Amino acid sequence: MALPTWEFIRAAGLASYFLLFVSVACGLLFSIKAAKPKTNQLLQITHQSAGWFSLLFGLFHGLLLNIDTYKPYSLVGIFIPFTTNDAPLLNGLGTISLYIMVLLFISGDLMKKVGAKVWKKIHRLALPMVILISIHGIMLGTDAGNGWAIILYASTLAIILSLLIVKLLLLKAKTKKVVSA
Ligand code: HEM
Repeated sequence: MALPTWEFIRAAGLASYFLLFVSVACGLLFSIKAAKPKTNQLLQITHQSAGWFSLLFGLFHGLLLNIDTYKPYSLVGIFIPFTTNDAPLLNGLGTISLYIMVLLFISGDLMKKVGAKVWKKIHRLALPMVILISIHGIMLGTDAGNGWAIILYASTLAIILSLLIVKLLLLKAKTKKVVSA
């Protein structure tokens, strides 16, 4: 009996996307510092662990393509961006996002060594990565046309955008306070 690799590929991609959303949302909530210290600590732990699991599922999703029973991808196609025969641009966005994830989480663990400034610069790649991976999932995925998937993509992106706006408004108000003090 053939393994249902295609179903696993899709499920792993969607799991990775959802965990990335949880990680980014918790990271933004944590940086806003609106919650009590204990809740903030929980947000930080969730931010980091959801991020790691998102990376693992993303890697699993990519590697499964190599053993797909219908249309297997070569390891070169999976790991070297824009080299697949099918949809090289959309597949390449998946590969690039995977590398950004690796960079983000390695830099997080090496924060003391790379320094806060470098770490911050690398961390800023997280939001463009969310956009890249959303384009990848929406335009390449089989499930993107289903009602539940549209709700998933629309709600996660709306929540991230709202949190980002709140963060920027708070930052602006803080800068104004410092200037007028
Ligand atoms: C962190 C990395 C990645 C994430 C979060 C991710 C996420 C997703 C998501 C959410 C989907 C839509 C699944 C569906 O509609 O059922 C998808 C589809 C797909 N991804 Fe990725 N992806 C990543 C990396 C990669 C890599 C490295 C490749 C290989 C080049 C790749 C190739 C594909 C392909 C071929 C599909 C279409 C599967 C289908 O037939 O539905 N992805 N991905």
